[in-house]
Amino acid sequence: MKLMVVGSGGREHALVWKLSQSPCVDKIYCMPGNAGIEEIAECINIPADDINGLADYAQKHKIDLTVVGPEAPLAAGIVDEFEGRGLKIFGPNKAAAQIESSKVFSKEFMKKYNLPTADFEVFDDPDKAIKYIDKKGFPIVIKAEGLAQGKGVIIAKDRAEAIKAINDMMQEKVFGKAGNRIVIEEYLEGPEVTILSFCDGKHFLPMVSSKDHKKAFDNDKGPNTGGMGAISPSPTYNEELAKKIEKNIIGKTLEAMEIEGMPYKGILYTGLILTEKGPKVLEYNCRFGDPEAQVILPRLNTDLVDIIEACIEGRLDKINVEWKKEKAVCVVAASGGYPKKYKKGMEITGLDQARELGVQIFHAGTLRQEDKIVTSGGRVLGITALGDTQQEAAKKAYDALAKINFEGIQYRKDIGLR
Ligand code: AMP
Ligand code: GLY
Repeated sequence: MKLMVVGSGGREHALVWKLSQSPCVDKIYCMPGNAGIEEIAECINIPADDINGLADYAQKHKIDLTVVGPEAPLAAGIVDEFEGRGLKIFGPNKAAAQIESSKVFSKEFMKKYNLPTADFEVFDDPDKAIKYIDKKGFPIVIKAEGLAQGKGVIIAKDRAEAIKAINDMMQEKVFGKAGNRIVIEEYLEGPEVTILSFCDGKHFLPMVSSKDHKKAFDNDKGPNTGGMGAISPSPTYNEELAKKIEKNIIGKTLEAMEIEGMPYKGILYTGLILTEKGPKVLEYNCRFGDPEAQVILPRLNTDLVDIIEACIEGRLDKINVEWKKEKAVCVVAASGGYPKKYKKGMEITGLDQARELGVQIFHAGTLRQEDKIVTSGGRVLGITALGDTQQEAAKKAYDALAKINFEGIQYRKDIGLR
């Protein structure tokens, strides 16, 4: 089979790496890919949001299956375009991808079907939004409706922060159209856990649990980022919670999507917070998480191509998915300054020495320049290690990371160690 993977981050490197282990795969193309993906796939310089360019390529090169990493092409309808041309692709169509691409859609959907989530209201008028926060008090959570690369959620501690967030989103348009409408919701407290599921429209198979570390600095300090590290499993997850969440949340979500006339096929990412009143949904995403994929896929024993084909063909209830017992920890090495301004083009050294320690190095913002690999993005690398305990995995990841260097390298020192 010939596969195409769309995207260029650590998540896509993990996807290409896992897919390349399937005996039925002859060749993988990645659009546009990065310096790490290039070692195991042919990278073609078509941007992930050039849906027609990607579909033309898939048609011309007779690609058997396309797997999409990021949300933007899914939200823009890449699945509809491919399916319209008779090309096989894995992911939700444009309508179903609204579960991530519109917070207004997903919140109203949860309300309609009694799925547990924070109380909220939607606003398109900043004055009404301000009246509402004055009534509700603080802290309060303000979310841009649309996609904002993980930066569209502000937890406002006081009135000044809340007003700034409302103005930034609705007047200053810091997230463009994504801030035309906002959701203001109740602040919830508790440990967070993420459950990703394979979905075929009717059935779902939950993956092992995971937990992202969104804050830039140790002990969850500093600004939100795309994700500075992840662990799997989540230490706060257990059988009892799993049963409850699978039945009352994930299963119900799929049933509701079907009733809405948009059966959900693809990866469903359910971000949950375990409150005193029970688990509540913080958000849905319509794809693998990054860096959650970098801890989940290394624990997967089953052939990923088999699972994806079962999803596409609606026979997920007929297959069995197996996971490694070992725990996984991924630590992200970022460019100095990330998530704010950072420099690019710094040479990365020590990758071979790090790999000798038995870790997986997933590239994100990297670029090959002749015989050098240089930084080309905010998140640069994700180092994933497996171990019998989470601490053992974390130690291995950090030992490997100690071999790697580039000017300004920045990473959290506490992933998997608490
Ligand atoms: P989201 O993109 O909606 O998942 O939000 C990003 C992060 O903001 C989440 O992972 C939480 O840490 C935090 N967050 C979002 N909504 C809430 C809420 N209602 N209460 C507390 N924290 C929240
Ligand atoms: N790591 C969070 C996300 O991928 O949305």
